Amino acid sequence: MNKVTALAVALLATSPSFAQKESMDVFVSDLMSKMTVDEKIGQLNLLPGGDITTGAVLNSPLAKLAAEGKLGAVLNVKGQEKVRDLQEQAVKKSRLGIPLLIGQDVIHGNQTVFPIPLAQSCSWDLNAIEEGSRIAAKEATAQGINWVYSPMVDISVDPRWGRVAEGYGEDVFLTSRIGEAAIRGYQGNYGKENAMACVKHFGLYGAVEAGRDYNTVDMSRTRMFNQYLPTYEAAAKAGAGSFMSSFNLVDFVPATCNKWLLDDILRKKWGYDNFVVTDYGSINEAVVHGLGDVSVTTELALKAGTDMDMCSSAYIAQLKSLLESGRVTMADIDNACRRVLEAKYKLGLFDDPYRFCEPKRLKTDLYTAEHRKAARDMAAETFVLLKNETNLLPLKKQGKIALIGPLADNRSNMVGCWSTGDTPELYSTLREAMARAVDGKAQILFAQGCNIYADNATQQGATHGRPIDRVDDKAAKDEALKIAKKADVIVCAMGEMAEMSGESSSRSDISLPDVQMDLLKALVATGKPVVLLNFSGRPTIMTWEAENVPAILNVWFGGSEAGDAICDVIFGDKTPSGHLTMTMPKALGQIPIYYNHHMTGRPVEAGVKEFRKFASNYIDIRNEPLFPFGYGLTYTTFAYDGIGIASDAKDALFSVRATLKNTGSREATEVVQFYIRDIAASIARPVKELKGFQRVTLAPGESREVSFAVTREMLSFFDAEGNSVFEPGEFEFMIGGNSRDVIRTTKTVE
Ligand code: BGC
Repeated sequence: MNKVTALAVALLATSPSFAQKESMDVFVSDLMSKMTVDEKIGQLNLLPGGDITTGAVLNSPLAKLAAEGKLGAVLNVKGQEKVRDLQEQAVKKSRLGIPLLIGQDVIHGNQTVFPIPLAQSCSWDLNAIEEGSRIAAKEATAQGINWVYSPMVDISVDPRWGRVAEGYGEDVFLTSRIGEAAIRGYQGNYGKENAMACVKHFGLYGAVEAGRDYNTVDMSRTRMFNQYLPTYEAAAKAGAGSFMSSFNLVDFVPATCNKWLLDDILRKKWGYDNFVVTDYGSINEAVVHGLGDVSVTTELALKAGTDMDMCSSAYIAQLKSLLESGRVTMADIDNACRRVLEAKYKLGLFDDPYRFCEPKRLKTDLYTAEHRKAARDMAAETFVLLKNETNLLPLKKQGKIALIGPLADNRSNMVGCWSTGDTPELYSTLREAMARAVDGKAQILFAQGCNIYADNATQQGATHGRPIDRVDDKAAKDEALKIAKKADVIVCAMGEMAEMSGESSSRSDISLPDVQMDLLKALVATGKPVVLLNFSGRPTIMTWEAENVPAILNVWFGGSEAGDAICDVIFGDKTPSGHLTMTMPKALGQIPIYYNHHMTGRPVEAGVKEFRKFASNYIDIRNEPLFPFGYGLTYTTFAYDGIGIASDAKDALFSVRATLKNTGSREATEVVQFYIRDIAASIARPVKELKGFQRVTLAPGESREVSFAVTREMLSFFDAEGNSVFEPGEFEFMIGGNSRDVIRTTKTVE
């Protein structure tokens, strides 16, 4: 047993609760009293595992650094055996035997892949999201990972930004609640199946100009405090074990070096005392932003409150001399070191550094039937039915079904971006799942039909190693039309490849690539009924499709079980219940477009068909989106009625109620949404803001009263200093199944 572990065990024996803060303080202080400056700085250093291979770990530069006590954490070391080898270097060879944090981008599951986060948000199902995160952590920890770089709670209103796939949509309230659920799922009580969460990217990363990744961000403090920062605050208060600073500027200072953001807001205003890690290389990038040389950006980062340096090697190279020259203090380094050691303590690593390296878990904990069921159930809840003319869906399992499109029989793209633990050979393609689903009762005719892009270079650029068969577009289209003509119904699997969204995957055109559009138009022209399954990591512009294709189901990237889940929904074994969490624009020129916008002084009322001179609108398109935030159909219909106020709410000012009725002929789940508008205030307030939601399942003909308790906090807003302000007056309350179609009532609140 090394010295530190011995001390931890001794403490365990003497303290009533290992998790108690006092024991942690005593333990960490004692450990730090033994550490040299170099060892403390070593704890702040995070490096990538890259392609080190099992067996070669011991000769890698990482192993050497770990043995010298110059490494606090690693990322992307894949495989339990490698993790164990590396951990052993730190624990057995270094002077104090301090174990490593093992980080990984576990973003939406691990070997069992759940839908991409944007899709997850469309389920509005916090329990399912928490459970999915719990499973992700269980699988990750079985592979040695103890620190996951999730949830991403960056708000974005720009679907050109590829990273909207990794977030939970445009709304601050919904994203906050989902972030909390994910943190609960990952961290639990820090048991051995739990991992430490890392909330990213603090802050405002989703507001990059023109949706171009890594671009400049600039916004007013009022907007920050009301529409962007509350998601991070909620995550901080939910006890997230770590935060990641973002690449972008905030008030023209890179987040990693931004004392206002990290110290005044995160630490002082929100009271967050867990550790902050940079994003990949961002201390070096601050040099490129133009803040000075790396000694300057290192100094700024540490003083701002950045505790750990991800992959800049700036702390390890600069901090000692900055300390010697008096530019940073020992207290600055100590604070950072303490926070990192506390994280390791909470994870139980001092008690057992190999806590997450149990070989038997590799056999019992990965891709289990239970995990797969959870992923399949969740995926079915994330699909959004955008259109279903003449109740084309659900399809009957009979006759001839033509399954056409470049995503119909592809294994590695169903999971979407950031599937760092995926094992595609275990998963089914949609074609395989469909054959299973119809089980001989219908005939499935298949054709790829086209490429993702006509031009090979763009297709390769868009796929980054998740290839798709390259076909001759003309021949493939002819073949597709041939089978389409024989079929009773056509199901098109089209859209993006996995890597067309996610990091560094911004697009200037977010409609279906031309070659797919061309095929889709030809298939619609056959006169056969067409169902479009749209795979995407972002809202897609589908204006032509919405007019001409009878049924559209947005299936995002549904994870490892997507094929089965899609079949569950299109054949009606499950009813769709997903509702959009990002507005779907009609045209690129409408972006940014989002539901909780402000009034202008010259608004144009919804529904106005023509251009209005000197009002806030475009000459060539109306302001309304194609599909609003919150929108989603199902195989039944719902009606809302009887909105009213009741004063008997517990722990709240009052409640707003309405009656929801299933007016169709199938049991289904509705996502009931509650919006509030502050009619007059000292600053202009949005036209509506989401403040509550419920998933309600009703049998045909069944009615239920839905009720939302209204608190003072829900009626408050933030001023430009970030103070919460409540102003009495008249408020409007709205309930509905999307942000556009709502029933309303008002009340004056004193
Ligand atoms: C991304 C982060 C990610 C990190 C580590 C960065 O490029 O922005 O989201 O966690 O890499 O992989």
